[in-house]
Amino acid sequence: MTQFPKDFVWGAATASYQIEGAWNEDGKGESIWDRFSHTPGKVQDGDTGDVACDHYHRWRDDVKLMKELGLKAYRFSVAWPRILPEGREKVNQPGVDFYNRLVDALLEERIEPWVTLYHWDLPQDLQDEGGWASRMVVDAFVEYADVVSRALGDRVKNWITLNEPWVSAFVGYQHGHHAPGHTNLVEAMAASHHLLLSHGQSVPVIRANSLMSRVGITLNLTPQEPASPSVADRKAATWVDGYINRFFLDPLVGRGYPQDIVNGFGKAMDFIQPGDMDTIAVPVDFLGINYYTRNIARADNITEEENEPRTVIRGDEITEMDWEVYPKGLYNILGRLHFEYNFPAIYISENGAAFPDKVRPDGQVDDPARLSYIKRHLEMVSKAIDAEVPVKGYFVWSLFDNFEWAFGYSKRFGIVYVDYQTQQRIPKSSAKWYSQMIRENAGL
Ligand code: FCB
Repeated sequence: MTQFPKDFVWGAATASYQIEGAWNEDGKGESIWDRFSHTPGKVQDGDTGDVACDHYHRWRDDVKLMKELGLKAYRFSVAWPRILPEGREKVNQPGVDFYNRLVDALLEERIEPWVTLYHWDLPQDLQDEGGWASRMVVDAFVEYADVVSRALGDRVKNWITLNEPWVSAFVGYQHGHHAPGHTNLVEAMAASHHLLLSHGQSVPVIRANSLMSRVGITLNLTPQEPASPSVADRKAATWVDGYINRFFLDPLVGRGYPQDIVNGFGKAMDFIQPGDMDTIAVPVDFLGINYYTRNIARADNITEEENEPRTVIRGDEITEMDWEVYPKGLYNILGRLHFEYNFPAIYISENGAAFPDKVRPDGQVDDPARLSYIKRHLEMVSKAIDAEVPVKGYFVWSLFDNFEWAFGYSKRFGIVYVDYQTQQRIPKSSAKWYSQMIRENAGL
């Protein structure tokens, strides 16, 4: 691997609901994920984020661990219902204080805080008013962004408004696998729009409160490859690309919603009001991308016999999520992003893999498959940098094993193992490798 630039940001990422626990402590309000995980049958094995990694109580030791690993940056999210338990108006000071202390501790260790404002834990009170499907949420989000950026903006200089709005909108409101568990396409479309609008309206607010800051948004981008050169497979790939990738990328750069997808949905987009699309297209300082795998698109509107034989075959290296390990896809999506969308900077805000890790009798956790996954994806990042794509940093998902949404604790993504009985943290061999990689490249 070639040397990374000296100012390359080396980080790890987490999210509030996945690690904090303390779901009802110190005045925190209920979130849609509290409600969802407490509803029987929604999360595997009945797991909840009630305790998770108990990071709310163990943050001090966790920051020490980050320091030991040599992380230069830490991406975490703020739990909206800790700050505004009812979603708006009444600020819960103990919640603000928690993040104040965390930010101070990080800065003391020279670890750059990267704050995601929304990583899926909407206050339940706002969901009771319709959640993201309802336009009222936009004002509430801007108020929340204002409170947080006022409180932390003197010290936090890197802001991500939203994590993966496609997942919030479509997995939450159309597929029903995530909170709030609805299955309504029109709600999902409205939710996407209100998410993007919340982003657009909050960017100038954050900039005003946090001088000299960088503000961006994180998307989950999944490159699509037709399974064969058939027209039907190309059509399928174009559709999924539009549905997952272009439906968010295009409006962010001022191109509006992609017409093929709007037509395909076949529903009125009457939630769009004059001026909205300009608001959404506010220039950002960077785009964050979360990359895990590619998708091989196969037409489902014709039979296998009618279709051409597959020429693109899924590799046999598969993670525990049943995701193909495909580092090349990261290089492809970075190149495409740069040449088709031209964001001023790109950060890999998440990349990583779940494997069934075990603690060895000597107390160590050896995870060669994850180490190799991270290494090969970093090689693609380095290749993209050589090709002049402005990739400025990389955050491994995740710092810790944690609550993997509908899969509960059954999937371990951490470079640090968490024993959920004792809350002991054990850096895996991937963490040690990553740590070494940072030291070599950051000139430590
Ligand atoms: C992403 C989420 C993150 C984590 C990874 C595996 O979609 O942003 O919270 O669950 O997937």
